[in-house]
Amino acid sequence: MTAVTDTVADTIAAPLTARIKLATTSAERDAARALRRQVFCVEQGLFGGDDTDTIDRTALTLVAVDGDGAVIGTVRIHHAGDNVWWGSRLAVARPARRQAAVGSGLIKLAVGAARALGCTTFMAHVQQQNVAMFAQLHWQALAEIALHGRPHSLMRADFAAYPPIRDADQGFVCTRSVA
Ligand SMILES: CC(C)(COP(=O)(O)OP(=O)(O)OC[C@H]1O[C@@H](n2cnc3c(N)ncnc32)[C@H](O)[C@@H]1OP(=O)(O)O)[C@@H](O)C(=O)NCCC(=O)NCCS
Repeated sequence: MTAVTDTVADTIAAPLTARIKLATTSAERDAARALRRQVFCVEQGLFGGDDTDTIDRTALTLVAVDGDGAVIGTVRIHHAGDNVWWGSRLAVARPARRQAAVGSGLIKLAVGAARALGCTTFMAHVQQQNVAMFAQLHWQALAEIALHGRPHSLMRADFAAYPPIRDADQGFVCTRSVA
């Protein structure tokens, strides 16, 4: 009996756990930029060798850090004026996708942290293939727009689903829910 249980346990990968937080070190910020380049330049080919733009001068970087300290997800948020904040460059490392709610955790912290900083409207340009995911996460599509030659939706977060998060530097842990 014990042997069978051990065998089954050996075949199930350990649940992925990640802390979603504000990037607080230059190592975390550098790792987030490297992940962005991997996803948006190499994987998606949206940009040449670098996806840096002027928003990076003022944006806050959020990260998902796994149990080994590796950055496996990132998103940036910035204030565009009049208490309107935007999220962009949401990226999760391929092996971590659809495993531990890393992407939705980053969205939760992005909106919650912005609200704690006075945000009254939170927007994003969402790539078309991700619109269903954002809709499931309580975002409303407002308009269609082409960006970087690809179809996007202008979407707004429903604040009823996103309470303010004041301790973004601590953040929270997300993990795969095992049924
Ligand atoms: C989009 C992305 C960030 C999602 O990250 P993720 O960690 O896989 O997302 P989650 O695991 O939190 O998924 C949340 C929910 O959305 C679903 N989902 C994830 N990606 C989806 C998609 N493209 N379409 C529809 N549903 C999706 C998940 O199954 C999950 O549903 P569930 O709660 O019912 O199980 C990730 O796939 C990614 O980095 N893609 C490449 C870069 C990119 O497209 N960035 C976004 C630009 S707008």
